[in-house]
Amino acid sequence: MRALVVRRYGPPEVLEMQQAPDPQPRPGEVLIRVKAVGVNFADLLQRMGLYPDSPKPPFVPGLEIAGVVEKAAEPGAQDHGENFRPGDAVVAMTDFKAYAEWVAVPSIYTYRLPAGMSFNDGAAIPANYLTAYEAIITMGNMQPGQRILVHSAAGGVGTAAVQLARARGLFVFGTAGPTKQEYLRRIGVQHAIDYEKSDFVEVIGKYAPGGVEMVMDPIGGKSWEKSYECLAPTGRLVAYGFSTVASSDGKQDRIRAAKAMMQTPKFNPLDLMKKGAAVIGVNLGQARSRGDHCRSELNDIFRMYAEGKIKPMISKTFPLEQAAAAHQYVQERKNLGKVILTVK
Ligand SMILES: NC(=O)c1ccc[n+]([C@@H]2O[C@H](COP(=O)([O-])OP(=O)(O)OC[C@H]3O[C@@H](n4cnc5c(N)ncnc54)[C@H](OP(=O)(O)O)[C@@H]3O)[C@@H](O)[C@H]2O)c1
Repeated sequence: MRALVVRRYGPPEVLEMQQAPDPQPRPGEVLIRVKAVGVNFADLLQRMGLYPDSPKPPFVPGLEIAGVVEKAAEPGAQDHGENFRPGDAVVAMTDFKAYAEWVAVPSIYTYRLPAGMSFNDGAAIPANYLTAYEAIITMGNMQPGQRILVHSAAGGVGTAAVQLARARGLFVFGTAGPTKQEYLRRIGVQHAIDYEKSDFVEVIGKYAPGGVEMVMDPIGGKSWEKSYECLAPTGRLVAYGFSTVASSDGKQDRIRAAKAMMQTPKFNPLDLMKKGAAVIGVNLGQARSRGDHCRSELNDIFRMYAEGKIKPMISKTFPLEQAAAAHQYVQERKNLGKVILTVK
């Protein structure tokens, strides 16, 4: 089969299409012919060598796909009631290895593609919507009428968070760069903040005096400190990314990463208690390791999709061969919502 391989850590050009051995499914794994791959910011960090747990090159990056079952797990394997058969359309969360024509995935991380959902939408859902769901619903327990500030709200997780927050009846503030303000309003942000024009702490101070009940912050470093300032009593800061470490040229920049680490606040339980606030870390890898937990969350997400409450916004699709261009596009902050790689 053909797969996109990271030959060495570096800029998008290090992604190279190569012939690779066909995956041989192990017991309990489903062999899937890939139709669509979701591109995540995490893939860029994997490529730069900045992602925790990233394999050493050469490796095939990527964490989520939609496709068709070619070979089901052998009878008796733990399939969580799904009982996949060849020809079934599925969505799967992979442990890297997604930028390829074929992938073998444990059936526990494989889910039936709901009727009427395209492969592109299927591949756009797991990482973005499960992350937002873990934050807002599972760990954050946000209630109708509460206020949330979503950073990078025009991105993949950001868009999912805005849609889930609105479906939950929350009031949504969202930050993004200047060219994305109209998009923010289109997806349901009620108060869009252009971070080049205004300081979000001041905006929250003015329009949500007393603070908001949740801030979702994937930027990290100094931003976590400022986001924490925006919390109301009972507020939760959700730390789920560290985008600030990514340099604009896509190369590993250790000085930038070290600076971001130094600017990262240290939260003291006594201070949290005094403020009446929580700091929540969301890690999809951890959630994924609890297979049935993710399955039940994803079922709820699929239900909301069927009811028209959420819908992935596909910013652009690229053929698998053009994964480097797809990475460049995300790195240049051009995506509004999700980027998908399509596989013939
Ligand atoms: N913890 C988890 O389990 C988990 C799961 C999924 C994603 N994440 C994290 O969530 C964040 C969003 O992921 P995503 O896949 O949805 O990406 P994304 O938000 O679609 O894409 C990147 C966006 O992030 C913003 N950004 C901020 N700093 C940046 C930088 N230094 N370089 C480039 N872009 C920067 C830009 O938006 P503006 O133009 O508006 O600034 C950009 O458009 C990432 O930090 C990712 O690692 C974490």
